[in-house]
Amino acid sequence: MGGAWHLTKRFLGSLRPGGPRRHDVAWVASVLAADEMRLWRRMYGPDRRHSVAIAREVDRRLGDAATGPVLAAALLHDVGKVDAGLRTWGRVVATMSGLVAGPGTAVAWADGKGFTRRVGLYLQHPRLGGDMLEMIDSDPLTVAWTRQHHLPESDWTVDPEIARVLHEVDDD
Ligand SMILES: [Fe+2]
Ligand SMILES: [Fe+2]
Repeated sequence: MGGAWHLTKRFLGSLRPGGPRRHDVAWVASVLAADEMRLWRRMYGPDRRHSVAIAREVDRRLGDAATGPVLAAALLHDVGKVDAGLRTWGRVVATMSGLVAGPGTAVAWADGKGFTRRVGLYLQHPRLGGDMLEMIDSDPLTVAWTRQHHLPESDWTVDPEIARVLHEVDDD
């Protein structure tokens, strides 16, 4: 029940358009490097709001251990979900489905395509995000957590106490 309610709240919350409030954006700007901030601003509004909630809770739980790179990991671990990734994946799926099914079957792919895109995005966003952050010289901890945040605990290289909090607070 708790889980279902949580997901319902999350879903209803995700329907509200727009990004976080102004004072939250100012806080994020004080945490992230300039290039990271540019990347963060490209995230979908509800994802940005979610990322602030996660980072605030990580900050509260870890106290002094919530360093800049740790908070950047909380804010940017899902950055691979930005539009560019979606369009890239959409193009791949469209190309593949067109090749396999032929253009005449396109209507039947409408639902499957949405599902395929979601699955594909889910699978790809840690790798995409990690590569983006590495390109802009984010801290190795930020890059590592972005790549590892959907992997089993045995594959984490980030400090276990920090990784555990980052993982617990996230819910996707
Ligand atoms: Fe994720
Ligand atoms: Fe997440």
